[in-house]
Amino acid sequence: MKAVVLAAGWGTRLRPFTHTRPKHLLPVAGKPLIRQVLGMIAATGIEEIGLVVSPNTLELFRSALGNEPGAHIVYILQPEPKGLAHAVLCAEGFVGHEDFLVVLGDNLLGEGLRPVLEKFARERGHVVALKAVEDPRRFGVAVVEGERIVRLVEKPAEPPSPWAIVGVYVFRPSLFAAARRIRPSPRGELEITDAIQKLVEEGEPVYAHFLCDWWQDVGRPEDLLAAQERLFAALTPRLEGAVDAATRIQGPVAVERGAVVRNSLLRGPLWIGEEAEVEGATLGPNVAVGPRARVRGAHLRDCILMEEAAVEEATLVHSVLGPRAQVHGPGQASLLLGEDGRAVLKGGPA
Ligand code: DAU
Repeated sequence: MKAVVLAAGWGTRLRPFTHTRPKHLLPVAGKPLIRQVLGMIAATGIEEIGLVVSPNTLELFRSALGNEPGAHIVYILQPEPKGLAHAVLCAEGFVGHEDFLVVLGDNLLGEGLRPVLEKFARERGHVVALKAVEDPRRFGVAVVEGERIVRLVEKPAEPPSPWAIVGVYVFRPSLFAAARRIRPSPRGELEITDAIQKLVEEGEPVYAHFLCDWWQDVGRPEDLLAAQERLFAALTPRLEGAVDAATRIQGPVAVERGAVVRNSLLRGPLWIGEEAEVEGATLGPNVAVGPRARVRGAHLRDCILMEEAAVEEATLVHSVLGPRAQVHGPGQASLLLGEDGRAVLKGGPA
């Protein structure tokens, strides 16, 4: 079976971090989000992956994934992000007349993708992954009868059920014909939800796969931190950089090659990227210090520092710092600071 991963567009809700790179290339737990998604696919044994991207992000993806091990990636261009059904239609030539897996490039699942593929193998009908959520209004929503989906609606003001449509689907090739028969939605997109509704109306069986574990859709900056915390729960500790004897380590900690850590307290889970420098700092839990970033005398908890970011003295919680962003001063804050941003925090540490 082939997999199609949808990763076109930039992700405007993640600005300022998506001014210069699409959200799929933002780091989560030390790796670009898209590599975490591709890792879920690789774990199923699927080797042929069609990655749908925008023409103006193609080169960024190519350089970020150039050395992705184990998978054969075919880039598929979607000229404009006109909706998920449109994106899937762009992949029709790659898929051919076979069953196929579709994964949204901004979705992560605790249970991985095997269970949904197993459901498909058992039922031999289209399968859509679902998860009950408290407020389904920002998702597609499905109405189910037993194991079968009987109605789907995209971002309803009044959700007919708690079942949010997770961005993972296994389709038979008849999905393509259904996608060709739909019209743009009120938001101007060709919705995959509408194409699946067409299948239901035409009497094709569409099954629900109910997720048993967590699901994280990454649309907003706070989702980056939530996704990182989820992934860190499975962090494999490793110390490849230089950690001095004055540094104390608690919990799972990964320190990459070339990183230097001195006189610090590392409370895992946390990750320190290649050639980063940490000195006199208290880090964690849930902190990622990007490659070549510098942290001195600072306290960080629930933070993502992208490459070459620098923090001195400050106490940061729930913060995301873009590449080369700098924070100085003894104050405490929760910051979203874009690429090359500067902040000076006055006041004493908490
Ligand atoms: O996250 C789950 C939700 O994803 C589902 O519940 C909804 O039914 C589904 O429509 C989708 O809604 P979103 O509004 O969250 O989709 P978003 O625009 O964020 O796009 C999801 C992914 O697909 C993202 O990686 C970008 C990619 N994409 C999006 C569009 C609109 C494309 O590749 N091409 C596109 O034209």
